[in-house]
Formats: sequence, structure tokens, C-alpha cells
Amino acid sequence: MAKLSIIYYSGFGSTHAMAQRLAATAEAAGAEVRLRHVAETAPDSAVQSVDAWAAHVEEQKDKPVASPDDIDWADAVVFGSPTRYGHVTSQLQGFIDTLGPLWGEGKLADKVYAAFTSSSTLHGGQETTLEAMNTTFCHFGGIIVPPGYTDQVKFNDGNPYGVGKVTGQSGELDEVDNAALDHLVTRVLHVADKLAG
Ligand SMILES: Cc1cc2nc3c(=O)[nH]c(=O)nc-3n(C[C@H](O)[C@H](O)[C@H](O)COP(=O)(O)O)c2cc1C
Repeated sequence: MAKLSIIYYSGFGSTHAMAQRLAATAEAAGAEVRLRHVAETAPDSAVQSVDAWAAHVEEQKDKPVASPDDIDWADAVVFGSPTRYGHVTSQLQGFIDTLGPLWGEGKLADKVYAAFTSSSTLHGGQETTLEAMNTTFCHFGGIIVPPGYTDQVKFNDGNPYGVGKVTGQSGELDEVDNAALDHLVTRVLHVADKLAG
């Protein structure tokens, strides 16, 4: 079974919950999984000014942090970021910006990649955030695996670019969110296994 890294940033916990669901489903399917959050880079004064942000940073403090080796190791990598002003968070982008040496050695290429996000509103930039990550995967020389509408469940969440959770009413993952996440990670593993031949 494929080696899968799930690399994500989460400020308040919603994207973290999505990452956990992806990891659980992949592990249940037999994949070797590294679940890694990227380090917080915002000033502590900003983090402490929002209770949910401070609580999530505290909850994550002993969990493994993403490193470039987590990409090098993997056959497939799923990246996740909340939407910030219609874009990827600076924290995830900062991590991506440390991957230059691996990129220079061609070690980011030929892996399977996919993306997930969360935003508070439906049209608040999920597609632009997912497409921003997909653009990065092009520069890696990665094999992008979008979910498309390759399963009936995709007609419920309606996002062919990746998976997006709308958190404005509730950050709790519902049946539609879980089905979309399960579908994405199962498809990623399926393609990675096919490539491994
Ligand atoms: C600085 C900032 C910018 C944001 N920009 C957007 C945005 O452009 N569109 C949107 O719908 N939500 C936006 N949000 C809301 C977050 O995307 C949303 O709360 C997300 O679910 C947070 O994920 P997390 O719980 O993993 O941190 C923004 C939040 C913050 C703090």
C-alpha cells in the first residue's frame, strides 16, 4: 500500500478535523500515513488574541510537525489549508517555500498530490485556494488527482477540485464532508497504487 503524507495547517481546528478523517480512512485502507501539521508562524500576540486559535495551537504543541522529509518519503501527498482571503495560509505557503532543495533534486516530482480546504462561506474562495495548491503541484511536476465527479458523492459536496468544508454554520464534519474526504483519499491511494504498478 502507498505511503501517504497529509500536510496541513489549521488555525482553529476545522482543517485539522478534515486531515484526521483523511488519515483514519487511509489507515483503514492499509496505507502507511504521516499526519503532519505545519508549524505556527503567526506572532504569539495574534494567536493569543483569538481563543479558538490559542486553544488549537496548545492542543497541537506535542504533535509531529511537517518537514520536507515527509514529502520525500511519501508516494502521495495531500495538502490542506484554510482559505485566507481566497488563498492558501501563509503558514502552509511558508512550509512549501522550504521545499526548494527537494524541488532542485527533482524529488517532488512524480508523486500523487491532492488538496483540501475549509472556509467560512460557500463562495468565499475554496476553489481559488484549491487551485492555488494545484498550481504548486504543477511546479513540483506532481500528478494531480482531483476528485472530479468520479463518484455519486461528489454531486453532494459539488467540488471537483478537491474537498472543501464550509464552516460558517458549524465546523463539525457532516456525512457529506466525510463522504467527500473518504472519496478523495481513497482515489489518491488508488492512483498511487496504480502508478507503483
Ligand atoms: C485572516 C482570515 C482570513 C479568512 N479569509 C476567508 C475567506 O477569504 N473566505 C472565507 O470564506 N473564509 C475566510 N476565513 C475563515 C476561515 O477560512 C474558516 O474559518 C476556516 O474554516 C478556518 O479553518 P481552521 O479551523 O482549520 O483554521 C478567514 C479567516 C481568517 C482568520
